[in-house]
Formats: sequence, structure tokens, C-alpha cells
Amino acid sequence: MGVELERVSKVYQAGEVEVQALKNVSLQFPDGEITVILGPSGSGKSTLLNIIGGIDRATTGSVTINGTNITVLKDRELTDFRRRNAAFIFQSYNLLPSLTVRENVEVGSEISENPLSIEEVLERVGMLSKADKFPHQLSGGEQQRVAIARALVKNPNLLFCDEPTGALDEETGKRILTLLQEINEKYKTSIFIITHNPGISEMAHRVIKMKSGEVVEEYRNHKPIRAESVRWV
Ligand SMILES: Nc1ncnc2c1ncn2[C@@H]1O[C@H](COP(=O)(O)OP(=O)(O)O)[C@@H](O)[C@H]1O
Ligand SMILES: [Mg+2]
Repeated sequence: MGVELERVSKVYQAGEVEVQALKNVSLQFPDGEITVILGPSGSGKSTLLNIIGGIDRATTGSVTINGTNITVLKDRELTDFRRRNAAFIFQSYNLLPSLTVRENVEVGSEISENPLSIEEVLERVGMLSKADKFPHQLSGGEQQRVAIARALVKNPNLLFCDEPTGALDEETGKRILTLLQEINEKYKTSIFIITHNPGISEMAHRVIKMKSGEVVEEYRNHKPIRAESVRWV
């Protein structure tokens, strides 16, 4: 799904103080790519992702996704758009503790018009054998795989990952990244990954560096590396 941002700004009002989280950001993302977004804490990475994904709204500027300008949508239409097209994975897995693995993934399936099969997705992330376990019975890496399954089962066009490996060790983190790379290749999902780990940028088609609400550098990798060989820094 192609994404285009034109002069997008975001101002948060924190009491008396205005925080300019994004300043005139213009970017284009072709369909089906992995984009890695780097930058120090507070540079606007999450704000950017949340605006593209329809969780948050731009203050000014426009965001066009597959020809639809989502900045002019009413709240209900935006929610609808988000449900149909976008899925999110966060550093904290946000699984529902009282539901099993299968039931957590079912939650993702229920909010989609054309979900994938729950079994297929659990198999894909290597969690089918633990489908009846509860989150507290799983390791961090396993919980993140379930969170990915819950996102994937929606069959989203856009997958947003906000520091997906932030809480994971190298081996587990690389397994998650390998999974994301496979998803991109198999389903042609456009994937956006925010990370503090510059090594991860080598597996991306496109790299964006942010600072103080602006894009300060961007480039393409002509030969993205396999996620297994990412440098873990
Ligand atoms: N809901 C909010 N209310 C007020 N300020 C916010 C809010 N969300 C983010 N900010 C501010 O906007 C700036 C960018 O934040 P964020 O996009 O979360 O950065 P990053 O993800 O790169 O760490 C920061 O200064 C942050 O404090
Ligand atoms: Mg953030």
C-alpha cells in the first residue's frame, strides 16, 4: 500500500507548552517495503508511525494512503480505515492475560474483514504447539511472536512495529526480525520498524533517520541483508 506524507506537522499541547513533534515531514513509501526508522528518543518516530497508521492525527499537512487522504476522514472513517489496513506491534506485547494464545490471536481476527486462518498464522510464527497456553506461561520472545500473530491474522497492508525487539535478547530479537522479513516477502506487507539498533537498518529497503521532528537523512539499501545476519548493537 503506497503511503505519501506531504508537509506533515504535529503539535502536542502539554499544558501551557507546545511540543512540535513533527516539522514539515514529506515522505513517500512505495508498496511492500521494509522501512526502518532510527533516531534518538523524542525525535518524533512514534508520532510519525501513529499518524501514518491512523492512531493519531496530523496537525497540518496530508497523509495519503493508496489514494485516500486520511487526514480529512471523520473519526469513525479513520477507525474503519485503521481496522481494515493497519496492524501494530509494540515493545510491550499487550496480550490479554486471561486469554490463551489462540484467543489472543482471535481478537485480531475479529476486527478484520478478510482475516487469515488463526492456525496458519500460529504455525507461521512457530506458536501453534502453544496455542492453549496463557501469556504468563511464555517467554518474552514467545509473547512477541503471539503479538505478531495477532497483528498478522488481520492480513494488514501496513504493519507498524514500534521497537519490536527492544525488550528481547539478540537471538530472540533476530528470530522476530526474520519473521518480519518473511512476512514482507510472503504477503508483500509494507512494514515500518522503529528501532534504536542501527544494525537493523541493514535489513531494510529504506532507512529514515529523524532528529527533533525532522527527517535528517534517508537512503535506500540496494541489497538488504537477511535478518539473521543483522549486527546486534
Ligand atoms: N501525547 C503527547 N502529548 C504531549 N507530548 C507528546 C505526546 N506524544 C509525544 N509527545 C512529545 O513529542 C515528541 C516526540 O515524541 P515521540 O514521537 O514519542 O518520539 P520518539 O518515538 O522518537 O521517542 C517528544 O518531545 C514527546 O515528549
Ligand atoms: Mg517512540
